[in-house]
Amino acid sequence: MQLCHQNTQITKLINDWRVQEKTVAFVPTMGGLHQGHLSLIEIAKQKADKVVVSIFVNPTQFGKNEDLDSYPRTLNVDLAVLESNVDAVFIPNVKQIYPNGISKHIDVGKIGRILCGKTRPHFFNGVAQVVEILFGIVRPNVAVFGQKDYQQLLVIKQMVKNLSLNICIESGEIIREKNNLAISTRNQYLSENEVKIATNLYKILYYIKCEILQNKKIDVLKKLAEFDLKQYFKLDYLEVLDANTLRQITDNTHQIIILSAVFLGSVRLIDNIIFKKG
Ligand code: PAF
Repeated sequence: MQLCHQNTQITKLINDWRVQEKTVAFVPTMGGLHQGHLSLIEIAKQKADKVVVSIFVNPTQFGKNEDLDSYPRTLNVDLAVLESNVDAVFIPNVKQIYPNGISKHIDVGKIGRILCGKTRPHFFNGVAQVVEILFGIVRPNVAVFGQKDYQQLLVIKQMVKNLSLNICIESGEIIREKNNLAISTRNQYLSENEVKIATNLYKILYYIKCEILQNKKIDVLKKLAEFDLKQYFKLDYLEVLDANTLRQITDNTHQIIILSAVFLGSVRLIDNIIFKKG
């Protein structure tokens, strides 16, 4: 496994691979690696000859009062996990990624302003900005993202389309704990008791799915589920939408997504369930 701290190092490595006609799959991360990331790496391995993981806590996707400073930075553990699992790890610093400062503004459009984009208006612009820069440096054939951040996945697909980038975007299913809590780096912030409470998020989303499949009215279900969620959490949003467009369900909808974001104390949890319309 090659460690690259400089853009020039990773660029040279990728150029060498290109000369050898190797394809490259890329898994961008902010570190704090867990089973979810490892599942994305497994997908990456199946899609290309070489796998590159980046570890970069991107300041532009954090709001002023968010956890940029306290975000888990576990580089040594992450590298131990990645060793013998991937071909290269790119660990740039802020100067490498934003040599001219971090003021560049990208607007990802409407899809970045709904759902999580309402509560975190900076978030998707920051994600699109850093992913575009990382794509420019790594120039992968394939990039893999998790479905837990489903809106992020669609924003990135949209960006790739808008910029006509020749990169295939793959995604990996949500990986859950035994108690069905969606695995996330930020779960580290939860106490034992909060973990127990947090499991109610999936339970409630799963209940909605079962009821929709029994042809129950979505509006009624949503109201009931919002009430249930509020017993445990401060509700940010709960939506039942078309999974391809993140718009209202229509006759053309093939897949439904139930998405929610909630606060448990200061920790914001997101989760979703995708399923075929019955
Ligand atoms: O999902 C993440 O970990 C981050 O948003 C990403 C895609 C690595 C960009 O910083």
